[in-house]
Amino acid sequence: MSHIMLETNTIVDVRATIVQTIRISNDVSVITLNCPSIAATAKPGNFVNVKVNTTTQPLLRRPFSIHNVQGELIEIMVKSIGCGTALFCDSEEGSTVMVLGPLGNCFNITDHDFKTAILVSGGIGTAPMLFLEKTLAAQGKKVINLIGGRTKNDLLAQNLSNCSFATDDGSMGFNGTVVDLLDRELLGIEKDGPVKLFACGPNPMLKVLANFSRENRIACDVSLESVMGCGIGICYGCSVEINTPDGSVRTILLCREGPVIDAKLLVV
Ligand SMILES: Cc1cc2nc3c(=O)[nH]c(=O)nc-3n(C[C@H](O)[C@H](O)[C@H](O)COP(=O)(O)OP(=O)(O)OC[C@H]3O[C@@H](n4cnc5c(N)ncnc54)[C@H](O)[C@@H]3O)c2cc1C
Ligand code: FES
Repeated sequence: MSHIMLETNTIVDVRATIVQTIRISNDVSVITLNCPSIAATAKPGNFVNVKVNTTTQPLLRRPFSIHNVQGELIEIMVKSIGCGTALFCDSEEGSTVMVLGPLGNCFNITDHDFKTAILVSGGIGTAPMLFLEKTLAAQGKKVINLIGGRTKNDLLAQNLSNCSFATDDGSMGFNGTVVDLLDRELLGIEKDGPVKLFACGPNPMLKVLANFSRENRIACDVSLESVMGCGIGICYGCSVEINTPDGSVRTILLCREGPVIDAKLLVV
């Protein structure tokens, strides 16, 4: 059964204090926010929409996956790629930002009777994997992380366990894509029982993975990226086409019916 997981989150818009900003690489920071109401209801795969400053530059909020939840704190892993993320990466401890969330649906961790979860991520797509890994481990699942990047400088394994790496230039780990690495490792992992794949990364990587999961008949959830404005289904900025089980194509708003979809539904 292919599915869309629709969530009925209690969404709040709160002013959150930045408790800590840690630069973990040249262009990536982990930002800890005091956000009790969002921390209390967030699920792995949810995201928040953050107004990174108090001026009009940038005007719109920016979406970020929930990287980790610790008590009343949420952590966001941010890669600086433009004006909003550059500002957020340099956030001063003690300052505040407006945070809307938790938004979107979540990874479906109850639908299949899998024993091992393989978390496949590329680049900043590793951001939601820590929260997911912790939740799966608490349910007694075995978790394996396969992490890809263009070079070793793009690999983000912050606090994750059981990691194997793939780089396009061979500077660390397997020389190739993270899907090629999965292909190499899968037989060995499947000996321990049924697996499910959970993935986040650049959309082209997710399309290759979706094909792989279909060919190998493995359950797979993918968390997609798109440009987002409102994050709550008003601006229609995040529409994407997906397959339906009856073979037709329909348009969804990724901020409401995503960002996670069953890989079977991805138009490749
Ligand atoms: C559901 C979701 C979860 C996300 N989680 C994270 C996360 O955990 N950590 C993180 O660092 N980033 C995450 N992103 C991406 C992040 O929202 C964008 O990088 C950010 O909005 C860019 O803002 P900016 O002002 O820095 O860049 P801009 O100045 O707006 O844009 C810079 C360049 O990046 C491109 N761009 C902007 N947004 C996106 C996007 N969403 N996808 C691809 N290209 C884009 C623009 O077209 C432009 O070329 C997520 C996006 C979505 C939709
Ligand atoms: S981001 Fe506005 S409708 Fe999805």
